[in-house]
Amino acid sequence: MSAKLIDGKKVAESIRNQVREDVIQWMDYGNRRPYLQVIQIGTDPGSTTYIGAKTKACQDVGIGTGTDRLPDTISAKELKQIVKKYNESNQIDGILVQLPLPNHLSAHDVIESIDYRKDVDGFHPMNVGRLAVDQPTFRSCTPAGIFELFKYYSIQVKSKHAVVVGASNIVGSPMAIMLSRENSTGKATTTICHKFTKDLTQHTISADILVVAAGQPNLIKGEMVKEGVVVIDVGINRVADENSDKGYKLVGDCDFESVSKKASWITPVPGGVGPMTVAMLMKNTLLAAKNSIYPENNK
Ligand code: GUN
Repeated sequence: MSAKLIDGKKVAESIRNQVREDVIQWMDYGNRRPYLQVIQIGTDPGSTTYIGAKTKACQDVGIGTGTDRLPDTISAKELKQIVKKYNESNQIDGILVQLPLPNHLSAHDVIESIDYRKDVDGFHPMNVGRLAVDQPTFRSCTPAGIFELFKYYSIQVKSKHAVVVGASNIVGSPMAIMLSRENSTGKATTTICHKFTKDLTQHTISADILVVAAGQPNLIKGEMVKEGVVVIDVGINRVADENSDKGYKLVGDCDFESVSKKASWITPVPGGVGPMTVAMLMKNTLLAAKNSIYPENNK
């Protein structure tokens, strides 16, 4: 089998088009333009790239945005004071603190300091908890984007064996929750693998749907998957490439060459999951704006 490509760029564009129309309609009703406040701490080049993509998407769909660039020496107290100011502002709908943070700052503490009603990343324990019990919430953008891909390509999840590799708070854990819940999107039998999993292949080989979010290039090879598997590669890794002007290229967590020979569907890197994450952030920011006027939507 040779896999068909899941075109995240195309699906993300159609979602952004929808958000753009919804923003216009929202403002036609007399509401102010939705606004996303981004906070970057330090100068990590990866974070700068991601924030650039988020800013561009906001501009594309008509969501206002600004980025605070703070020194990596900032104290937890100072950072939380800034977050508090944004929590209290009625001009700001979404607050996003780009991760990772410098070592002296606790991501848990910083995320918990964000008003959960403005947590458009869906990382706050309140939102993760609501996700875990099938309540309306801000769903973490990457897993939510993957479910949009399933929907667009009519990939059935119900009753399948889904294997998630990587158990991060950002992707793996919420993805596993969404896959496994008996709600409208989930209903899959779900296995979570992580760095303590003893025999990874034993699990990946039986996956009907394989979601890989481990941050390790070439972790999954063709011999580790079965014929016809649907592969969602969340990894975005920079590897040295002397043929590229930048000196590196982006690869996922799967060995695309061998895995795509056996898969029925596969996401490319780049152009697969990445654009979906950003598109879902736009959706969540608009939702935050709506919830701020109609809070019963998110009760
Ligand atoms: N770092 C990597 N991905 C993300 C994301 O989706 N949100 C935030 N805030 N930080 C990240």
